[in-house]
Amino acid sequence: MNPSLSELQEQATQAIAGADDLNALDQVRVSYLGKKGAIKALLKQTGALAPEERRPFGQAVNALRDAVTTELEARKATLQAQAEAARLEAGWLDVTLPADTPRVGKEHPITGLLREVTDHFHGLGFTVASGPEIEDAFHNFDALNIPANHPARDVWDTFYTEEGGIPRTHTSSVQIRTLEKATLPLRIIAPGKCFRNETIDATHLAAFNQCEGLFIDKNVTVGHLKATLEGLVERLMGYKVPTRFRPAFYPFVEPGLDLDIECIFCKGSGCSICKHSGWIEVIPCGMVHPNVLRACGHDPEEWNGFAFGMGFDRMVMLRYGIDDLRRLYDGNLELVRGL
Ligand code: PHE
Repeated sequence: MNPSLSELQEQATQAIAGADDLNALDQVRVSYLGKKGAIKALLKQTGALAPEERRPFGQAVNALRDAVTTELEARKATLQAQAEAARLEAGWLDVTLPADTPRVGKEHPITGLLREVTDHFHGLGFTVASGPEIEDAFHNFDALNIPANHPARDVWDTFYTEEGGIPRTHTSSVQIRTLEKATLPLRIIAPGKCFRNETIDATHLAAFNQCEGLFIDKNVTVGHLKATLEGLVERLMGYKVPTRFRPAFYPFVEPGLDLDIECIFCKGSGCSICKHSGWIEVIPCGMVHPNVLRACGHDPEEWNGFAFGMGFDRMVMLRYGIDDLRRLYDGNLELVRGL
């Protein structure tokens, strides 16, 4: 090799080895391979050479350029690895941090609780019944001992469709649908959507879920009702939560009752959620009114039973400690505590 070329190569090798960061190395690259660099300058000399010298000289310069390029790349890789190692050393990136967990779909809490309620009642010999969401006045009201013009109809803040249908105000209509066709005895639950013209707030929705229960047999007592519902509440809340029954009025039951559980938020001492009473109402219920059995063609002298209508969303709230019902219909359920 032309002595000046080998000298140049020697210099380049040293300069490359001496560059101790990526910026310095880039300057070395520019000074040899750049437009105004030493190697370009050599190529410009080619024209001044004797014709037979041009070709070998050109080849030697190209070889030099390739060699310098290779050395630059190798040095660059080394410097990059060193920089990365230094960054790790300085703790910029903690490789022991757990990786982001992939987002996986989950069962909606309403679906989950429904599955549990169904499972619980299957164990007690109940089956699941259903009925239409748009009802007629007979199934939603009349047969439930709520005649037209009875003031009790107002309690249910009813919507009407343009065709005069009633988006059912409660799942009690399924009691009628089932009793009309049933041979007794009978044990059913009927979960489903209901609709009321409610102002929406933390504890009220205009479209909500209920789970109706109906047990008809001979010589059924309030004791059966009490044991069944206390067992349900214990199963759903996961502990033997204190309960109480209060008298209440629903035209389709007599006596009518409301089952309260001790407030899960304050454990009975009184808080804003239980309106400082220490109790939360969870399940309206009662002994089926004889008129209901009669309206469906059954003899109330022979058969009797109990019914309940659990506010399902409310139960989900209590079970998971959710303080606002609207969150159940929010896309971002992950923010809900306990899920
Ligand atoms: N259907 C009643 C309501 O929605 C609840 C209920 C059901 C009460 C069954 C008693 C028995 O208000």
